[in-house]
Amino acid sequence: MFRRPLDFLNSLPARGDLVEIRLGPQRAWMVCHPELVHRMLRDTHTFDKGGPQYERLRALMGNGVVTCPHAEHRRQRRLLQPTFRPAAVAARTDLMAEEAESLCRDWRSGQQVDVSAATLSLTTRLISRLLLSDSLGPAAADEVRHCLTAIVRGLFVRTVVPVDVLFRLPTPANRRYRRAVERVRELIDAAIAERRRGTPRDDLLELLLAEAEDGAIPAGDREVHDQLVSLLLTGSESPSMCLASAFSLLAQHPEVERRLHAEVDTVLAGRLPGVDDLPRLVYTRSVLTETLRHSPPGWLFTRVTTRETELAGRRLPRGTTVLYSPYLLHHDPTSFPEPDRFLPERRLEGDAAAGPHGALIPFAAGNRKCIGDLFSMAEMTVALATVAARWRLRHPAGRIAPPRPGATLGPRSLTMICTARADAPGGTAPHAVTLAPGATTAAPGVEKARRGGDNGVHHA
Ligand code: HEM
Repeated sequence: MFRRPLDFLNSLPARGDLVEIRLGPQRAWMVCHPELVHRMLRDTHTFDKGGPQYERLRALMGNGVVTCPHAEHRRQRRLLQPTFRPAAVAARTDLMAEEAESLCRDWRSGQQVDVSAATLSLTTRLISRLLLSDSLGPAAADEVRHCLTAIVRGLFVRTVVPVDVLFRLPTPANRRYRRAVERVRELIDAAIAERRRGTPRDDLLELLLAEAEDGAIPAGDREVHDQLVSLLLTGSESPSMCLASAFSLLAQHPEVERRLHAEVDTVLAGRLPGVDDLPRLVYTRSVLTETLRHSPPGWLFTRVTTRETELAGRRLPRGTTVLYSPYLLHHDPTSFPEPDRFLPERRLEGDAAAGPHGALIPFAAGNRKCIGDLFSMAEMTVALATVAARWRLRHPAGRIAPPRPGATLGPRSLTMICTARADAPGGTAPHAVTLAPGATTAAPGVEKARRGGDNGVHHA
């Protein structure tokens, strides 16, 4: 599980619907059948947020909506839901398109682009605008991105080797992790303090502060802080990973890329995408949905049983750690034939090819389903269409980065070479290209941070 987690996950369904595994010295159970996963996700009273992953996340996100127990969840979710409603998301489409366009405006043909840094920069900017307007300035947003890299690395190892004493040692990796956690908390506190001194804005922070003032939020300022940290971190990392995976997969599948280009050229005809274009970008969405199936950013989650229960005919005592993995379900060949192939057409060919009901769960299911599913599908569709209308991205020869499992799954430190589509009308670019001598990399600062020392599993 620690060294080759994806192979390990793929080996489990053959052993049963519920398989006992070890996480360091702890015993845990992996749920391998979609129906059982849904049963677990529906019964949030019995299978509550907990287990090594959520215990670690609580140190970071406190008692916000991502980590809070079942008993507090309904109130918190109701408070936050309006910010993520369809109309609120639709109202952001133009901003999403402007930000996506500005992301690639300065690229030059033949330039090496740090795709991981670029996508993370875009998604952090979009979610922080939604939550905090401009109260998190560009320098602070940059710092959040750097911290996120260290946190994502550290969380995975703390989940699969849950031995606290190891993480109290003063190693460089432990120090990096702790510092990153503290710094994110400081940055959010500073944004809250700045807002209290400044002008009111129309965003989630304003709503939370008003509720805290009215006493409608039991933990007051502490909860305001926890919600912002939770939403900022979850809302930037996963869509960034998905977009980076999509660009990497497209470069390896030129026939898919051609179809995508044909769609964006027809639907957008050179314009930036607007809210009315989204339903017409059908293939663009299929590319993203297939990316979420093939390389789900949220790939492994833990739960804890709050009372004795039964699953797959087995008695599970109170306090048992149970896991589920969208990656495992998405790569089970009984649900998705040839699961390792990237085939956006699966989504277009009707229900059978799209897999059995409930087998595709990139955003989970039940009442703890992702609150940002609509928002992220919109931002990713807009970003992919905007970039694909202008640029073709290729891996430098011999350097296709595999997806790296950390707290999320995707290509970390992905750099690619861009060619303006106008420079190669209708041409078919090779799968990989040789970097021009002296070619530069965009966003070098963040690239350095992403590469800084390790890639997740082995050195975290
Ligand atoms: C590609 C993008 C995304 C993916 C694949 C994704 C995936 C997921 C998954 C699988 C869960 C369930 C975790 C579990 O069962 O333990 C989740 C929960 C959550 N996600 Fe996302 N997410 C994405 C984007 C976002 C965005 C943009 C936000 C915005 C802030 C967000 C906020 C949340 C929150 C708050 C929860 C907890 C919901 C609750 O417990 O009520 N996510 N996400």
